[in-house]
Amino acid sequence: MAAQNLAVIGVQWGDEGKGKIVDLLCESFDVVARYQGGHNAGHTVRFGDKHYSLRLIPSGILHPGKLCLLGNGMVIDPEALLEEIESLRGLGVQIDSNLKISDSAHCILPYHKALDLAREEAAGAAKIGTTGRGIGPAYETKVSRYGIRIADLLDSEVLREKIEFACAEKNPVLQTVYHKPTFDPRKLFNDYTRYGEVLAERITNGPALLDGLIREGKRVMFEGAQGTMLDIDHGTYPFVTSSSTVVGGVSTGLGIAPKHISRVMGVVKAYTTRVGGGAFPTELIDATGEHLRKRGNEFGTVTGRPRRTGWLDLAVLRTSVMLNGIDTFALTKLDVLDEFAEIPVCTSYHVHGDRWKTFPAFAVAHRDYKPEYRAMKGWKTSTVGITEFNKLPQAAKDYVGFIEDEAGCSISIISTGPRREETILR
Ligand code: IMP
Repeated sequence: MAAQNLAVIGVQWGDEGKGKIVDLLCESFDVVARYQGGHNAGHTVRFGDKHYSLRLIPSGILHPGKLCLLGNGMVIDPEALLEEIESLRGLGVQIDSNLKISDSAHCILPYHKALDLAREEAAGAAKIGTTGRGIGPAYETKVSRYGIRIADLLDSEVLREKIEFACAEKNPVLQTVYHKPTFDPRKLFNDYTRYGEVLAERITNGPALLDGLIREGKRVMFEGAQGTMLDIDHGTYPFVTSSSTVVGGVSTGLGIAPKHISRVMGVVKAYTTRVGGGAFPTELIDATGEHLRKRGNEFGTVTGRPRRTGWLDLAVLRTSVMLNGIDTFALTKLDVLDEFAEIPVCTSYHVHGDRWKTFPAFAVAHRDYKPEYRAMKGWKTSTVGITEFNKLPQAAKDYVGFIEDEAGCSISIISTGPRREETILR
């Protein structure tokens, strides 16, 4: 009963390298479950000469014998899911009864995607910079209580009614507000009925499945998507995603009691990136930022967009430790900093004469703050592929120690390259 279940959560604005960490830790778990988001997420896992791109499916799928669950807190585009299954199968990944979908997860329909894109276009410079996958509009429909759940794909009467009702509302908005094409409810009904038929054997009562497994003593890893600062409540609103990315989302997004979340690992990149609009106080809009982008290959896995880059922000880390109760960090991409003579780190903020050690979200939204930096010494030597902490240059060890001291959290994993084997386990 006292199985150690672990939540793996992004500490910054996503793209921290959670895919590699989940993949690395997978062997010790029986189940990997996602609790929020959709195919806005993009995890890349590399081993040997193979390169796997995951969007909806947890990285656990790459490990034989692990059960993967898409939780009720997710929004799922069935077409994207089927494409992902086929592309992974094409790379030799076995996907059969090891992939299950919660019956109360919500579906993304094409009108959600069209609305997402149309709104972004209409917002012009004020746009959020979404991934354009229909995530926000699908969550809106869920909260409005007119959403189509995965279970509805198996009930043609309900599905037809819900699609007709949705089209009667969304089509006029698309047509008259945004001057965009509309959707034929009959075609949507046929397409989504077919998706239901193909996915039927995977659809299950997610909470009951997990509860049974946890009672049997199976170990579950909860795989976060996006990052803490993109959380709908606690992130840099409105430049956030539409789900609860923080640890609280694990409980609602999978239907499990909080007591089953035994430990929380925060994944933190050795510097900061974000995609899309919104506050980013330590951003570097210069050649140094460009250097980080190139060296860190900071281009979105979902949209290919160049990511914004900047120095590490300890206020973000402390906020994340607070919101998620993080027990330990996995620090990724340390090697990307190899060539800098000096590495500034944001230690706090000045807001109207007060010093803030956590992220002053309100002040940041109103551009009413001043970040303070401490310049750390760079190590100017390659750390790529180092697997033992003692073999790191002293300045890199100091950088790691400084983060631990300032964020109040140990670092138990350090990633020194994209491959599984390029990792320090402490
Ligand atoms: P949405 O989730 O597509 O609605 O996008 C909302 C915001 O979250 C945008 O700034 C996106 O760039 C960002 N976002 C969504 N998913 C990810 C992700 O997996 N990594 C990083 N940023 C993301």
